Amino acid sequence: MFIVFEGIDGSGKTTLSKMLFEFLQRRGIKSVLTREPFDETLRKVVLEKDFDPWGETFLFLADRSYHVKNFVKPKLEEGFTVISDRYYLSTLAYQGFGRGLDIDLLKVLNDRATGGLKADLTFVLDIPVEVALRRIEKSRGSTERFEKKHFLERVREGFLKLAEEEGALVLNGERNPYELLGEVLKKIGLFLDKRGEKI
Ligand code: TYD
Repeated sequence: MFIVFEGIDGSGKTTLSKMLFEFLQRRGIKSVLTREPFDETLRKVVLEKDFDPWGETFLFLADRSYHVKNFVKPKLEEGFTVISDRYYLSTLAYQGFGRGLDIDLLKVLNDRATGGLKADLTFVLDIPVEVALRRIEKSRGSTERFEKKHFLERVREGFLKLAEEEGALVLNGERNPYELLGEVLKKIGLFLDKRGEKI
């Protein structure tokens, strides 16, 4: 099973993906936790250098293609549950809605990068931008290039729109993390029921 957490910076997806991973491990379920950008070198280049929106997109896509080929697919084939902190909705939300690039073209390119691999379940953590920025400043003392208010407002709207289109589940990121984990487990349970499996 392939599970993805999405949302703006500071939405709590990293915490929640870790909590789910630890829960599954305690249950003895073979699982791995991963994130995008995946490759450390590509992550550093794309986050630290000044690219134009398409340049940045190609790097995120190259990273995703590498991630799918070398990590996600092999792990799924070995029977692991893969939990990823970000996947392709991030490119549609940040580069499409945030930077204004053509969403349909981004979808086509993304499909090429992933070979069409979709998550079984995608959770979008939704949170007001002011709350997210306060969280980030509290934990890091500053915000980065992708974390400006107006930009993140567009990205947040993008995630909500995309969630509706793509059947992703929106969770209120301001709720207590344990309640959120409960919600996530319920959805996973329903998904597995449909396949005749159990956690
Ligand atoms: P990072 O600090 O690792 O993210 P997080 O705050 O989620 O831990 O940096 C990832 C940044 O890259 C984040 O601001 C979102 C951005 N990003 C895109 O713009 N497009 C993408 O396709 C991906 C995967 C990330």
